Amino acid sequence: MNVVLIAVVSLDGRITRPGEPGPGFASPGDQRWFREALRGFDCCVMGRKTFDAIPPGGPEAATRLRVVMTRSAAGRTAVAGVEFSAAAPAEIVAGLRARGFHRCALLGGGQIYAQFLDAGLVDAMWLTLEPVVLGGGTPLADGIVLGANFTLTESRRLSHDTLLLHYQRAGRPLMPLPPIPA
Ligand SMILES: NC(=O)c1ccc[n+]([C@@H]2O[C@H](COP(=O)([O-])OP(=O)(O)OC[C@H]3O[C@@H](n4cnc5c(N)ncnc54)[C@H](OP(=O)(O)O)[C@@H]3O)[C@@H](O)[C@H]2O)c1
Repeated sequence: MNVVLIAVVSLDGRITRPGEPGPGFASPGDQRWFREALRGFDCCVMGRKTFDAIPPGGPEAATRLRVVMTRSAAGRTAVAGVEFSAAAPAEIVAGLRARGFHRCALLGGGQIYAQFLDAGLVDAMWLTLEPVVLGGGTPLADGIVLGANFTLTESRRLSHDTLLLHYQRAGRPLMPLPPIPA
């Protein structure tokens, strides 16, 4: 199974504005692309804080399985298509693979990105770089990450000022960017 980290980041590597949950600085072009990009995945993984910040009806919901990492799964109300899990990243990936899932979108936030990167579980990163400096907020990787080196495979423009970057981990299956919606 392949794991692709998808995120929209500021020029200073933040995924939220200071003190504000959610990727509110994402441009309309990124939002359109994100919806399209998610279509190619049969499952996704995110942290509990990211899950709680998703507005109802967001593209993350759709029809794919959502695994939400939390250390207090027992207290959560059941949600259709959502599994709350206290398992470690490697166990989650192994479990999804064993159940026949093929493509997993890693949807953050910073704590979850850091743990999957540190565990060497990310095959590729599709990063939207927005032309803004936030000066604070959640970092892309919120935690220590060792040895996560990537190669820039492709870059595209989502608009005049917004770049879409595809970074690939050496030796992993190539995960090409899907088409950019018109
Ligand atoms: N710009 C973007 O592309 C983007 C993408 C994703 C998210 N975001 C934003 O980033 C923010 C959230 O990021 P975040 O780093 O604060 O939080 P997060 O990574 O979304 O979630 C953190 C939570 O995940 C659970 N968790 C973490 N490690 C775990 C482990 N090893 N085992 C089990 N559970 C674990 C814990 O939940 P419990 O406290 O329940 O135990 C922890 O509080 C949100 O505002 C979100 O909207 C932005």
